[in-house]
Amino acid sequence: MVASAASIGREGETRFGWLVLLRDISEYKSLEAQLLTTERLAAVGRLAAGLAHELGNPLGIIKACANFLRKKLDAGSELSEEAEVLASESERCERILKQLLAFASQEQLRIVDIDLCEVVQRGLNLVAYQAPDTIETRLETTLSQAPVSTDENLLTQALVNLLLNAVQSISGKGSVTARLEPKDGEEWIIRIRDTGCGMGKETLARIFEPFYTTRQGGTGLGLAITQRIIHRLGGEITVQSEYGHGTEFTLVLPRRAESRDEGISNK
Ligand SMILES: Nc1ncnc2c1ncn2[C@@H]1O[C@H](COP(=O)(O)OP(=O)(O)O)[C@@H](O)[C@H]1O
Ligand SMILES: [Mg+2]
Repeated sequence: MVASAASIGREGETRFGWLVLLRDISEYKSLEAQLLTTERLAAVGRLAAGLAHELGNPLGIIKACANFLRKKLDAGSELSEEAEVLASESERCERILKQLLAFASQEQLRIVDIDLCEVVQRGLNLVAYQAPDTIETRLETTLSQAPVSTDENLLTQALVNLLLNAVQSISGKGSVTARLEPKDGEEWIIRIRDTGCGMGKETLARIFEPFYTTRQGGTGLGLAITQRIIHRLGGEITVQSEYGHGTEFTLVLPRRAESRDEGISNK
């Protein structure tokens, strides 16, 4: 809220009143914040594409050499541990570059007709395969089919990012659930819930920022990419979480993706 005030009446004359103006600028502030995010995303996108291109080749060579050393040095011998670190860290750099490229991608959407139940189940299977046995993963739905026209690869990427985060938030026993329900005959709702560590308000406010991470070895790009994908598919993503009590991400997806490509351009 911005307040301004002025007295009414001519100079030298008795004032006969005050004009007080109160302006609600919350909409302007939120637009300003959106613009800042879009500009930042565009800058990150351009930087990412350039970096990934320039660093890809030398990194590939470093990785190949590190793997060569790893194989040559017997386990337990002098310097074998260093070679191991070199190899695994160069693999980590490669993962970050791959994610940066995905983030900066300007590829056209490839829309296909698919069953959302199948896509979600496949995402769950992929993640369950990597999760420890103490974590239960399941699909909850009363639907036998959920037809959707969308980009299957991008949607799978977004779902896997969310499901992996869910698994990573659980230490010990817990569950990850994907719930699928219809909305208004026009959209589908997917809720991804975990019984993990949850998030406090400060973390929650920053999770969609590129490079924001609280995980050791994290890139902080998973949710930035996921949000961008869901927006490109014409959907919305929201989150609810409480520290110590798990997290729920809600995706609202149109049954027919209408691309709302925003902002990231390398031109
Ligand atoms: N399901 C979740 N439960 C708790 N924290 C989460 C969850 N999903 C995301 N986060 C938080 O959001 C941060 C950013 O996530 P993400 O963009 O996927 O990057 P990364 O996984 O590389 O850290 C995570 O580091 C974590 O703090
Ligand atoms: Mg992640």
